Amino acid sequence: MAEDGSVTVRVPAKVNVQLAVGGLRPDGFHDLANVFLAVGLHDEITAAPAGAPGITVTVTGPDAGQVPLDRTNLAVRAAELLAARHGIEPRVRLHIAKDIPVAGGMAGGSADAAGALLACDALWDTGASREELLDICAELGSDVPFSLLGGAALGRGRGELLTPLDVGGTFHWVFAVADGGLSTPAVYRECDRLREVSGTGATATDIPDPEPSRPLLDALAAGDPAALADALTAGGAGNDLQAAALSLRPSLADTLAAGTRAGALAGLVSGSGPTTAFLAGSAREAELLAGALRDSGTCRTARVAASPAAGATLLTPARTP
Ligand code: C5P
Repeated sequence: MAEDGSVTVRVPAKVNVQLAVGGLRPDGFHDLANVFLAVGLHDEITAAPAGAPGITVTVTGPDAGQVPLDRTNLAVRAAELLAARHGIEPRVRLHIAKDIPVAGGMAGGSADAAGALLACDALWDTGASREELLDICAELGSDVPFSLLGGAALGRGRGELLTPLDVGGTFHWVFAVADGGLSTPAVYRECDRLREVSGTGATATDIPDPEPSRPLLDALAAGDPAALADALTAGGAGNDLQAAALSLRPSLADTLAAGTRAGALAGLVSGSGPTTAFLAGSAREAELLAGALRDSGTCRTARVAASPAAGATLLTPARTP
């Protein structure tokens, strides 16, 4: 805890190295085989004690203007939910120092929810177990449990049922950030629409159960970027939402082509997009690739980041008794 009684938590972004999407379920979600990898782009969430009852939120960072400050902000919902479960009247000022692209398919909103949850938990000293925190995360959103966990994991169900995965080395990425965001529900709806028009149907009875790719999991465990690139391209693993994101934002095809031309080992849309992710062979190659992507004029900016990264982490020491 800092001098002023505040608590700060650092939370990573993610890329889905595989996002296999099953059919539309009756509850509106899709079953997934979702291979999450946390990457070293971070938001920092600070929870500070407030004099008056209620939850307020402020945001700084290049995309701060696009972040809602009301209850639609998942960080506010996280604080509310934790307080309600523990019979606490919330009095907290949340601050989000935002570096993860907003609505970019990198789980920035989920990261802020996991960060706010961990920060408020430390601030209010609730004594919640890890299981309870993960349970609250799942209630907040499909990607939120992974933001708490970090590292690498296979997500089943709607993405919230996590099995940690071994990663045998560091992978270097470049993220090409697009102008504006894409709505995750809209991209899932477009995926269903494309399936309908292609004649396969879109429901869970039409689409085979999504399965993780064995070569992809082996490549992660071996820490082998060339093998991961093979699994992403020739191996058929990849992102089932990519066609839908490209359909809604056709210019992403130019970004993917620019990354491939500039020497990326593989390129894919990150989650529901519109951020695109490119795998590089080394940190140096990632820097060169980022420069080429910035010069290509096909993205707003390009950021380098390494994976795996740790999950939500307290930066200020927890309260001492
Ligand atoms: O769980 P979350 O709130 O992040 O999901 C946002 C939306 O994304 C859902 O309402 C649904 O439309 C879509 N979604 C889905 N299947 C999943 C995860 C999300 O259809 N597994």
